[in-house]
Amino acid sequence: MANVVVVGSQWGDEGKGKIVDWLSERADVVVRFQGGHNAGHTLVVDGKTYKLSLLPSGVVREGKLSIIGNGVVFDPHAFVAELGKLKALGVSITPDCLKIAENTALILSLHRELDGYREDAASNSGTKIGTTRRGIGPAYEDKVGRRAIRVMDLADLETLPSKVDRLLTHHNALRRGLGHDEVTHEAIMQELTSVADQILPYMDRVWRVLDDRRRAGERILFEGAQGTLLDIDHGTYPFVTSSNTVAGQAAAGSGVGPGAIDYVLGITKAYTTRVGEGPFPTEQTGEVGDFLGTRGREFGVVTGRKRRCGWFDAVLVRQAVAVNGIKGIALTKLDVLDGLDEIKVCTGYRLDGETIDYLPASQGAQARVEPIYETLQGWQDTTAGARSWNELPAQAVKYVRHIEELIGAPVALLSTSPERDDTILVTDPFQD
Ligand code: GDP
Ligand code: IMO
Ligand code: MG
Repeated sequence: MANVVVVGSQWGDEGKGKIVDWLSERADVVVRFQGGHNAGHTLVVDGKTYKLSLLPSGVVREGKLSIIGNGVVFDPHAFVAELGKLKALGVSITPDCLKIAENTALILSLHRELDGYREDAASNSGTKIGTTRRGIGPAYEDKVGRRAIRVMDLADLETLPSKVDRLLTHHNALRRGLGHDEVTHEAIMQELTSVADQILPYMDRVWRVLDDRRRAGERILFEGAQGTLLDIDHGTYPFVTSSNTVAGQAAAGSGVGPGAIDYVLGITKAYTTRVGEGPFPTEQTGEVGDFLGTRGREFGVVTGRKRRCGWFDAVLVRQAVAVNGIKGIALTKLDVLDGLDEIKVCTGYRLDGETIDYLPASQGAQARVEPIYETLQGWQDTTAGARSWNELPAQAVKYVRHIEELIGAPVALLSTSPERDDTILVTDPFQD
């Protein structure tokens, strides 16, 4: 028995949704532990596509328990909308199979608006982050500022008004300062009370549920959102999201001890992408970038933005292996590289005349590093849809082996198309 954490090892969109869906067959419980509906996780099952933002990717399988942990920031209206979309696709979700932690902080319309005001103002000064404008950052600020409204507050209509007042004292001061209209107490109360009945049936004491399930010997799969380079501490600050995305957060963001985690699986794209602003040493803006973007269909699930594309950066992934304690990786989208004559891989950086093997922490240095590349021969045969190792062209196998060596972690799973079953299992993370 083992519990597995899945994390993105790059800048998000590595294919976490597909792999979590695939792995969830082997799990009993799937838990989201950070982020919110800024995530966009795509699952393709028998030709049918599901796009999930807030719900754990286990919801499409029957008989699994899905959990939204306390580390998530939870937009109740986005939640209701996502439930509706999934129901329309034939997925049945009830309070028996989905639980939301009672101590989860809420995202309100004022968070979304503040996210937008700041991004708009920053656009004029050239300092925008390129957020998803979902209110993620402002909601985490209120949580840490100890003035957030939490899921459990929806059940206590006596104390809710005073909590809303406290929140509005802060937000209206900010809004006035930024030149925007104030929000009324009545508007926020209406926003919350109108949705409470649809949320409260799912509320639970999640730490207890997880403790009971663990004691009963069930397997838990923790589903990370975003990626290591978007982590608030370990990422390309300030061009990051506002949560810890690394594996350590799985424990704090759901209410289990660190000892509950047996295996960390890093989801790793066979090249690199990033959405939004910030440094990207191996970015390719020309022909190669277009090839990867077109072949890889690199458009954001949440915002529809075009993703920036570039070569595989082994420096970043090796660093992600260290900060997450990654035991093995799921290498995704290898098929996107099919047909290239040559493939480059970044093995180090040059910074101010020196060679380094890590991403420096400072914003200035991150913008200045220049990639050092190795060039590998590509392959002309297809890997798309391969379901066993022997179906892979020899050069593709060489590429995979070389990546393992450079990042210091083995490939546990290899994904060769968006479809659930186009996946090669090397090591089962639950059996490790
Ligand atoms: P996530 O945010 O990490 O869950 O990833 P996204 O769903 O945002 O982006 C990954 C995209 O790649 C989705 O459209 C997936 O359907 C797709 N995908 C996942 N694995 C593979 C793969 O091995 N090959 C190809 N071609 N597409 C894949
Ligand atoms: P998944 O889970 C890729 C990026 C945004 C922006 C920065 C901050 O699908 O991999 P935020 O709205 O979080 O304050 O935006 O983080 N970002 C993502 N990029 N995949 C994601 O999620 C992302 N979630 C946030 O583009 O650069
Ligand atoms: Mg995504």
